Amino acid sequence: MRSFFNRKKILITGGLGFIGSNLARRLVDWGGRVTLVDSLIPEYGGNLYNIKDFKDRVAVNISDVRDRYSMEVLVQGQDFLFNLAGQTSHLDSMLDPHTDLEINCRAQLSILEACRRVNPLIKVIFASTRQVYGIPRYLPVDEKHLLYPVDVNGINKMAGEWYHIVYNNVYRIRATALRLTNTYGPRMRIKDARQTFLGIWIRRIIEGDPFEIFGDGTQIRDFNYIDDVIDAFLLAAIREEADGQVYNLGADDPVNLMDLAKLLTQIRGSGTYQVIPFPAERKVIDIGDYYADYASVQRDLGWKPKTPLKEGLRKTLEYFTQHLTHYL
Ligand SMILES: NC(=O)c1ccc[n+]([C@@H]2O[C@H](COP(=O)([O-])OP(=O)(O)OC[C@H]3O[C@@H](n4cnc5c(N)ncnc54)[C@H](O)[C@@H]3O)[C@@H](O)[C@H]2O)c1
Repeated sequence: MRSFFNRKKILITGGLGFIGSNLARRLVDWGGRVTLVDSLIPEYGGNLYNIKDFKDRVAVNISDVRDRYSMEVLVQGQDFLFNLAGQTSHLDSMLDPHTDLEINCRAQLSILEACRRVNPLIKVIFASTRQVYGIPRYLPVDEKHLLYPVDVNGINKMAGEWYHIVYNNVYRIRATALRLTNTYGPRMRIKDARQTFLGIWIRRIIEGDPFEIFGDGTQIRDFNYIDDVIDAFLLAAIREEADGQVYNLGADDPVNLMDLAKLLTQIRGSGTYQVIPFPAERKVIDIGDYYADYASVQRDLGWKPKTPLKEGLRKTLEYFTQHLTHYL
């Protein structure tokens, strides 16, 4: 993969965020010519500190993917588009559904239209989400599972995902969608519980404060370490088999939240937590237990997560212990 991206022109939307900045880091190291687009909306995960040590080796364009004129200029001449910009909070999508619609749905169509008009040879990899499935009817959840979102975010991400597949099928703009599950690691947003509960747990543990488990702690989730997720994005970009496909990512070691909390405090050697009832506004959009069947991406692209949960959590805690002040 390393030589494949050498001198390739790559655009990453949401490039100052958690996944985008880690992806950029890898691509720059491999000789890619990378441009990051990010709006740096304060409530989202974009953070200039994420690219501090390689900022001179990437182009950064602070613009909004909702601006279709900017996007039309930015996609020109690019070999790859990693399309990661998104409003990621499920709760916020219920409180402000129109913003979620604009970013996760309408802007996605504009981006694809820009590709169709000025760069139909580009390959696009879209960051979708397991949230499109809603409450699992069976476990592990494979790609044949019914799509039945429980929140506005899930609906808009689903539309965004399917625009990509339709543009692949109708206009031959090669596109792949990866349905991510909980992704964690260095540079994730840990400020509050807006994006993921794990972020705020990590912050609280490092600051020496108790963190909260909602419900009874028996909900099961699967977690992918960031480096593994980046491998999946890169494989999807390279491999023709991925064109027009939608793949789940997932992990071999699903865990319930109580065990996850114990593991974190054990790795850290400190930390306390309390189990509290689900806040009502979160309970109504909770999906219960979830873990994915990732056999399709393994079969087609040979992808498999490599980082055990314990090792990934250790690296994540290490990173944030060192860099905490830049993420508050
Ligand atoms: N991290 C996860 O666990 C997870 C799970 C499922 C799906 N995803 C998807 O992966 C993608 C990246 O997620 P992340 O965890 O890196 O989140 P993140 O918030 O760290 O990154 C998203 C980036 O998009 C930028 N952005 C948001 N709206 C924008 C706009 N209108 N114009 C330009 N930039 C904008 C934000 O500033 C941020 O930097 C998202 O699309 C998300 O839905 C992530």
